[in-house]
Amino acid sequence: MRSTGCLIEKSELIPRAMSDHGEGPLDQRRRQMLDAMGIQYWVRRDLPTGQHDEVVPGREPLQESQESMPGETMQQLPADWESLQLAVSNCRKCSLSQSRQNTVFGTGDQDARVMVIGEAPGEEEDRQGLPFVGRAGLLLNQMLLAAGLSRESVYIANILKCRPPGNRNPDAQEMKACHGYLQQQISLIQPEVILATGGVAAKSLLQSDEAVGRLRGRMHHYGESKISLLVTYHPSYLLRKPSEKAKSWQDLQLLMKQLQ
Ligand code: URA
Repeated sequence: MRSTGCLIEKSELIPRAMSDHGEGPLDQRRRQMLDAMGIQYWVRRDLPTGQHDEVVPGREPLQESQESMPGETMQQLPADWESLQLAVSNCRKCSLSQSRQNTVFGTGDQDARVMVIGEAPGEEEDRQGLPFVGRAGLLLNQMLLAAGLSRESVYIANILKCRPPGNRNPDAQEMKACHGYLQQQISLIQPEVILATGGVAAKSLLQSDEAVGRLRGRMHHYGESKISLLVTYHPSYLLRKPSEKAKSWQDLQLLMKQLQ
């Protein structure tokens, strides 16, 4: 690969978002996280230290869109964490309650600045009752660390609180039944940014039929309080298609910029 006339060597790579973040050169741990994500990052050799030039291709301009929250009325649900979690544990609104081992309510900082929203629990999540604890969860942790965020500092939840058998996609009725719980969580946390991972989360939150590839890379807004919302690829998809990780890194850079 070439960047304005200079040959790139991976050992010299450094992402601009990190240096722009006022944190100077990447520390080793973050480099490892970016390496673990399989993200390409580099500096131009011809620039002095601190003036690094990122050359990840295909960055799309930041745009605002007017998408807002689903038209569904907020259900009468408890507005405190304990009662809400209890309501989820006892939920029988759809047939997934019959096949689940555990409900997966969500985890993390209830005052988080960032809320990560995935699709639905998988097998491991159903077993442990925690979101994103399987292979996709490990990659999500690495993505968060690459963006300077720990898993504990964000709040992680899913569109569905119960596992669809065989990890099939959630159906419309299941998503409708579960929507109020997530809506209540969002309203309790009031995050600064929602990171919707994957098509199910993105389309459900934005009430859109567009593919992730078209929704990602720009800022959306969720709900009446117009919470900033970014879309990125689901970690499971990135595990299957690592070549898309560079785009996900661009999305994480937008997230970091929004948090500055
Ligand atoms: N995939 C998701 O969307 N959520 C999880 O919790 C785990 C895997």
